[in-house]
Amino acid sequence: MNFSESDAISSDASEGDKAEHDVAAETEGWRTTLREEIVALHQKGEAYTILSLVSTFTENKTRPWDPLLLWVQPQPCCLSALAAHVRAANISALVSVGCGTGLLEWLIQAITGLSVVGYEVNASWWTSKYAPPTFIPLTFVDQEAPPPKVPHTHALMCCYFNNAKVFRQYVSAYEGPVLLIIGATSGDRHTDPHPLDYVDRDTWRLTLTHRISTHDLLAGYHRQTR
Ligand SMILES: C[S@@+](CC[C@H](N)C(=O)[O-])C[C@H]1O[C@@H](n2cnc3c(N)ncnc32)[C@H](O)[C@@H]1O
Repeated sequence: MNFSESDAISSDASEGDKAEHDVAAETEGWRTTLREEIVALHQKGEAYTILSLVSTFTENKTRPWDPLLLWVQPQPCCLSALAAHVRAANISALVSVGCGTGLLEWLIQAITGLSVVGYEVNASWWTSKYAPPTFIPLTFVDQEAPPPKVPHTHALMCCYFNNAKVFRQYVSAYEGPVLLIIGATSGDRHTDPHPLDYVDRDTWRLTLTHRISTHDLLAGYHRQTR
């Protein structure tokens, strides 16, 4: 290769690097703006405006949704269906295991009036400068110890949890009447447990399915009592 060829290649490579850098910077910019918008609306208590904003995002839009804020994009009907399912068992509170930022949990609380507690792990990450914003106070649990027992006065929920074995431990210890699992039924996103994993398992009976999107399902279970 002579000098001018190698120069041309390195100039092409740097153009490529620059384009990649520009896309990354633009995506980072969108993400920051979206987070700022949602934080501002949260501070003003504008839950319905957040849901309207969420509904403007689809996979094909140029400005992408930020899954670190929340893996699903719920609408008011999803939250109403969830709350009705909880209240049908005469309870009005839930624990969300692996709540992440707690955006979904705050929206449930603000829109339906259910009381919501969010469990998370890794306090040092969530209090670091790299973490996304949080929307409810997080209750940190010890990842090395057996999971805490979710009170029977609360429904047990997870949204896009990623450890079926640990979730099974939460369910085994739980003595309450309602289980809610949100996750993927198609697409390439990992979710474990799957929303329908508890169909006819132990004393659980599937009593609600509500589609959040073509990929995401909310499954609700009530405990069958004799
Ligand atoms: C894929 S994220 C989903 C976050 C959020 N629910 C959402 O839908 O955006 C799974 C979350 O579960 C949390 N997690 C993992 N193991 C956990 C455990 N043993 N107890 C509570 N949370 C846990 C992780 O830290 C992570 O934030």
